[in-house]
Amino acid sequence: MLQGMEYREWINSKLEINKELLYLTRQDVLDLNLTDDEITEMTKEGMVAYSTDNAEMPAKIGIHPLKDTLMHAMPANMKTLSSAGIKWGCCFPDNMPRFGYTQTTCTLILNDYQSGAAISFMDADYITRVRTAAVALLSCKVFARQDFKTMGMIGCGVQGKQQVSMVARAYPQIEKIYIYDRFEAAQDALIEECQKYTKAEFIKCGWEELARNSEVIFSAAYIPSVPNPQIKDEWLPKKGQTIIASDCHTHYEDVSIKAADKYYCDSIEEHELFVTYGMYPWGLPPITGETGAALAGVVPGRENDDEFIFVNNVGMAVEDIVVARKIFDTALERGIGTKMPL
Ligand SMILES: NC(=O)c1ccc[n+]([C@@H]2O[C@H](COP(=O)([O-])OP(=O)(O)OC[C@H]3O[C@@H](n4cnc5c(N)ncnc54)[C@H](O)[C@@H]3O)[C@@H](O)[C@H]2O)c1
Repeated sequence: MLQGMEYREWINSKLEINKELLYLTRQDVLDLNLTDDEITEMTKEGMVAYSTDNAEMPAKIGIHPLKDTLMHAMPANMKTLSSAGIKWGCCFPDNMPRFGYTQTTCTLILNDYQSGAAISFMDADYITRVRTAAVALLSCKVFARQDFKTMGMIGCGVQGKQQVSMVARAYPQIEKIYIYDRFEAAQDALIEECQKYTKAEFIKCGWEELARNSEVIFSAAYIPSVPNPQIKDEWLPKKGQTIIASDCHTHYEDVSIKAADKYYCDSIEEHELFVTYGMYPWGLPPITGETGAALAGVVPGRENDDEFIFVNNVGMAVEDIVVARKIFDTALERGIGTKMPL
């Protein structure tokens, strides 16, 4: 990918910087048809850059207009790509019953790396959906036993479907997929969407059956302001098990989290900030390392078949900015989107 002034000149040949920006709607972004592999590769680049000091990303700050809602400001500077910008990520869990649309809604601004001028404003729902699932898949690659035959998915919404479809495609040996959601209709919709990607049997179940039977448990349901554990410690077989959470650690008892042989997170700095928000009322477990550091090979991932590993990826702006760069470049090349005056 182009960098530095060469990248700026390429952009300026297609878009007059500081006079116009490229506006990309949700449909424009979808029309680019980026592949899972492209998204996963870019996401990995962002995570590795962050954990190897090749990116600048302050821990996200946020506001919380209603109970259990969040609006996070997520800036990142990807030094290795000459790309910088900010995502405004919002999560309002009651959106579906109240307004009929998803709880996660995001927008993103990309800026010219040399002058700071805005070069693009885009819908970032797709970015959030795919990069979060890519983070779960990448975590699975370094932390899970690679011969696993059973997985669980807590939450069968946007993330649930995306994570199951990407993981199932990457691991065709999976035989059983345990799924839980507070709404049976969401479970049915996940099966309808994901069955085409796998021969595995889908099992609609409750917390206990999922916890007891899944070698790898993924979760993306909701993030309450204080943890609300539903999975009893004694239900988890632990030995060889991997937990990969995209909705913090909320479903698990503190004793389970602290029983992990290894605990990884995407950003230690963000984790420490979340302590001040009251999200770890019982204190943080010892952190083995960052997911990006394990992907870079700087810290070890899983080292044997018996380890019980807990992974808590809260989401990082670097992942958004790298995928946004790919989207912006591809849209500019193909003439997709609307140039708007600044
Ligand atoms: N870590 C990250 O980077 C990242 C990124 C995006 C979303 N998220 C989080 O992932 C979660 C899911 O996001 P989404 O966009 O898929 O939302 P969604 O609304 O599309 O799906 C959530 C699903 O979880 C179910 N659910 C909600 N509360 C539940 C509960 N108490 N028990 C069981 N099921 C429950 C809902 O019925 C819904 O089907 C949210 O908490 C969101 O904040 C994290």
